[in-house]
Amino acid sequence: MAQAQKGIVAEPNLHAQYLMFNVVDDELSVMREKLARVLDLFDYYDEEHYEAMVSGVIGIGNSFWNEIYPGATPRELAPFPDMQCEDRCAPVLQADLFIQIRADRLDIVHQMSIEVLELLKLHVELVEQVRAFRYLDGRDLTGFIDADDNPRGMKKFDVAVIGDDDIEFAGGSYIHIQRYRHDMARWNTLSEKRQEQVIGRTKEHNLPVVDSGLSSHTHRTKLLRHGKYPTLLKQSMPYGNMSVQGLFYVACSNDGQAFKDVLYSRIFGDENGNYDRFLDYTSAETGAAFFAPSIQFIKRSAVSQTVDDMLSSQIDFDE
Ligand code: HEM
Repeated sequence: MAQAQKGIVAEPNLHAQYLMFNVVDDELSVMREKLARVLDLFDYYDEEHYEAMVSGVIGIGNSFWNEIYPGATPRELAPFPDMQCEDRCAPVLQADLFIQIRADRLDIVHQMSIEVLELLKLHVELVEQVRAFRYLDGRDLTGFIDADDNPRGMKKFDVAVIGDDDIEFAGGSYIHIQRYRHDMARWNTLSEKRQEQVIGRTKEHNLPVVDSGLSSHTHRTKLLRHGKYPTLLKQSMPYGNMSVQGLFYVACSNDGQAFKDVLYSRIFGDENGNYDRFLDYTSAETGAAFFAPSIQFIKRSAVSQTVDDMLSSQIDFDE
């Protein structure tokens, strides 16, 4: 059975490094082989430092997919939904590769990141690097508990990992990222009660705020799709330094369109202009769409020329 990359459904960690690259040469067979070696590197650190809860994800950018894996394309892989309404927007960052490295030890995250860079450096340019951390008991820097509603246990797989309905890409996941920058000075001018109305949850215990209205963050994001909710598994983490603070948002889903619907509801809102009021206090500075194939897909492709070759290959990487 095709296995999802470990970082897709990982439990929250203390530290993360998000790396994004563009590929600058056309040695694609070498790149396929090196991506398989990145998975080996994740495994090595996972085994050597089991207590650090190491995990990784390799995502392939939507526009790079057909270059690196010519042939079949994941059914719902699409460009990042570039949207703008008044001063609310979702800018796009061109990136061919997304690497997420997480662990409960910062030294391990750092070492793994250096080794990934060393492995890929002849073929890529680094376009974004964000180091993120767990804040308090899983809170965003605004003080609210984030991703408390994430599905748990095996339910994570039902939301984030493609099953047998897309057999070629089973074990894969659609990933959307956005780097949000918070206007903390502005946010901190709001009373706690007003902040709770903007988010739609109480700050201390994350309880629903009954009268938060149609423009709270939770109201605008809680969308049914084909009768299903939730549709996104959030793997976001806060980042920041003394001058910039925000959330590096990461959503994993087996539904490639779910993120777009939620983003639309936040930015454009409903017919009465009820957009997500939280966007008055935070704005996206980057955004990108990736597909994270199964472990077996990456390993088989490292020794095959095309996705079609790979699918017909008899090599068995299942363990
Ligand atoms: C600016 C960064 C963001 C912050 C700080 C943030 C924070 C929060 C918080 C505090 C909650 C309620 C607690 C919970 O997660 O269970 C929440 C819920 C949620 N957020 Fe965000 N969020 C951010 C961006 C986004 C984005 C970009 C999306 C998708 C496009 C999104 C989708 C959701 C969804 C689907 C829920 C669950 C709503 C519910 O079930 O009530 N969030 N978010």
